Amino acid sequence: MKPTKELLAAMTLEEKAAICAGLNMWMTKGFEHHGIPALQMYDGTNGIRKTNSNEEMGITGENIPATCYPTGSAIGSSWDTDLLHEIGVALGIEGREMEVDLLLGPGINMKRTPLGGRNFEYYSEDPCLSGELGAAFINGLQSQGVGGSVKHFACNNQEFEKIVTSSEVDERTLREIYLSAFERIVRKANPWTIMCSYNLLNGSYTSENEHLLNDILREEWGYDGVVISDWTAVNDRIRGLAAGLDLEMPGPAFYNTKAIVKAVQEGKLDEAVVDKSAGRILELVRKITEPKAEAVESTIDYHELARRAAAESIVLLKNDNRILPLDSEKISKMAVIGKFAKQPRIQGAGSAKVTPTRVDIPWDEMKNIVGDKVDMVYADGYPKDDRIDEQMIEESAALAASADVAVLFVGQPEYVESEMHDLETIELPLHQQKLIKAVTEVQPHCIVVTSSGSALAMHSWVQYVPGVLHSWLTGQGSGRAMAEILFGRVNPSGKLSETFPVKLSDNPSHMRIRGENGKLYYREGLFIGYRYYDRKELAPQFPFGHGLSYTTFAYTDLKAVQQDGNVNVTFTVENTGTIFGKEVVQLYVHDEECKWNRPEKELKAFAKITLAPGEKQQVSFVLEERDFAYYNTKYNKWVAETGYFQIAVGSSSRDIRLRERVYCDFGQEPVSFHKFSLVNDWISEPKARLIFENCLAEMNKHVTEQVVLDDVFIGFWGDFPAIKVIQMFGQTWLVDRSPDDVIEEMIAEFEQK
Ligand code: BGC
Repeated sequence: MKPTKELLAAMTLEEKAAICAGLNMWMTKGFEHHGIPALQMYDGTNGIRKTNSNEEMGITGENIPATCYPTGSAIGSSWDTDLLHEIGVALGIEGREMEVDLLLGPGINMKRTPLGGRNFEYYSEDPCLSGELGAAFINGLQSQGVGGSVKHFACNNQEFEKIVTSSEVDERTLREIYLSAFERIVRKANPWTIMCSYNLLNGSYTSENEHLLNDILREEWGYDGVVISDWTAVNDRIRGLAAGLDLEMPGPAFYNTKAIVKAVQEGKLDEAVVDKSAGRILELVRKITEPKAEAVESTIDYHELARRAAAESIVLLKNDNRILPLDSEKISKMAVIGKFAKQPRIQGAGSAKVTPTRVDIPWDEMKNIVGDKVDMVYADGYPKDDRIDEQMIEESAALAASADVAVLFVGQPEYVESEMHDLETIELPLHQQKLIKAVTEVQPHCIVVTSSGSALAMHSWVQYVPGVLHSWLTGQGSGRAMAEILFGRVNPSGKLSETFPVKLSDNPSHMRIRGENGKLYYREGLFIGYRYYDRKELAPQFPFGHGLSYTTFAYTDLKAVQQDGNVNVTFTVENTGTIFGKEVVQLYVHDEECKWNRPEKELKAFAKITLAPGEKQQVSFVLEERDFAYYNTKYNKWVAETGYFQIAVGSSSRDIRLRERVYCDFGQEPVSFHKFSLVNDWISEPKARLIFENCLAEMNKHVTEQVVLDDVFIGFWGDFPAIKVIQMFGQTWLVDRSPDDVIEEMIAEFEQK
């Protein structure tokens, strides 16, 4: 391809406008006479959804078979950046084999509510976890010459009326919670494209949101890749182009090509804006089609990788009396109950749904493991629909009673978790709840395996069950992974990537779940997920970061020291059990001194480590200033305040094993004063304090009630503006000057060098 500058000079305005929209559902436009090839892009988030034709959306039918990996919330629970990188590489290679230039994923929106219809596609409720996993994935994928598209930018946290709903989010919450994972991925992996969302953000569609696309993404984060619209998310193409929305999908969108040309001709749009977007698209085409290192024949066993990924993602929630792993030598009869044992739910529905190359069936895989040693018996357990079928419950209970152990495969019905609509409940269908209770009444050795892409409520049954494994929607290898975990061939190591509340109404967004007449207020602010449950002192059913192992780990020797601006943290983890295992170590930070609202703890680093029995490992993390910062809306920037912070290290957000206080010096914040600066502001800085004290001394000469800056005075008047103190106490002093004059003089004196 010729250099972009040359191409832009050679292309007509019509051609430059035309390249800013796709050719059809899945391609960009190529221009043969300029030597510009077309690109092909396909979903998705947990595997490639390549349609049979580029003219079709193909959401409901079968597409070209491809490896189906664990969905977002599942793989998010692996907490394994190396694995995400490996899957990225594998998808890059598989993508090249399938002629995919751009993969439309990953999905990294935060889980504001467990009812979000696309929660299964998204990694987590925490921006650090999502950002790190997303960056690892993109780095892996793009190392193979296939571009990624991080989506959906931003604040598309529900499906309900998403196209006509504005997410109303305050700036601090936006930066700290909803944009932070995108920012991390942009900085660490430079994704070649970013996909905007369908919704409005603070009153403006994200496809034309100047603040989001221009001020933040381009100017502040320095992003120079391509912004793609979600499919039909473009509304006002001219505004969108001006804000930095480069590529409209699907195409050809002839009407918008015409609108762009007309706007330029009428002087309503600068041609330089069209050149910028067309230029970025040309750069993308170059990146993807440039000759790459000789493509190597893939030696990856994709299905095996899907199995391994599933095994890393499944979470052991409960294991009373060490009911798991099952010992096939000690069981002679095992009852397997529930259709998902034979027809597993491996993924959610909508644009992310992959046609798998093959699917492991839990029943078959368990049989493979136990062979003839165990008599395995089966019952469907529940009907297809939501109806309660007492007979099925009775039969299942009888079967369970006749065995040594019962394993129940339950979960959200297939149709409830999908793009385009939200869930209505996070409870299991009533029939399944009754089934679990009936089985546990006759069979104490009972394990429940749950499938869902979002948090599940378990309060009505979990207390009766000794063993619970959450299998999420773990892709085509989940059957094998589940069987291996059940029988102890694999030691579980997944940790929840989102909080499982006791019940839906515990969730912080519960009062404002859907919004009304096109506005959805994110009034819980920063406090989503564990940030809320911590602040509220509300016990979740299973906390963020929770997940058990068949072995045990001890944490010792936490040290945290600030050095050259960073904080170096080290601690030691030992496998104190008798089998090999993996532990996800989690580091949370809390600002002890900030006067603004800051969460009790925020995840800032994590690692998955592998330890043989008795083995110890020292873990080291380097925290940067940004890890201690909050978004200050007065200065419009991230601010880390000098003072004490708490470093908490543990095995989950509620299983903190070690804590250490560390004093961090981030320098003096810039101080400035205005008319209504508070007494506390004036006394927070030595020079300002002296000026204020001098002012009071002068005032005291002319008034009867003396003002002394002692603790009692500060305790009462601290949050009152200094100008009002002067106004209150200095009436007999202020004859020729007003309180405004006094404050102006104080500010001027402070600002003098
Ligand atoms: C979804 C995107 C997807 C696109 C193409 C849209 O409906 O929101 O995530 O990439 O369709 O299938």
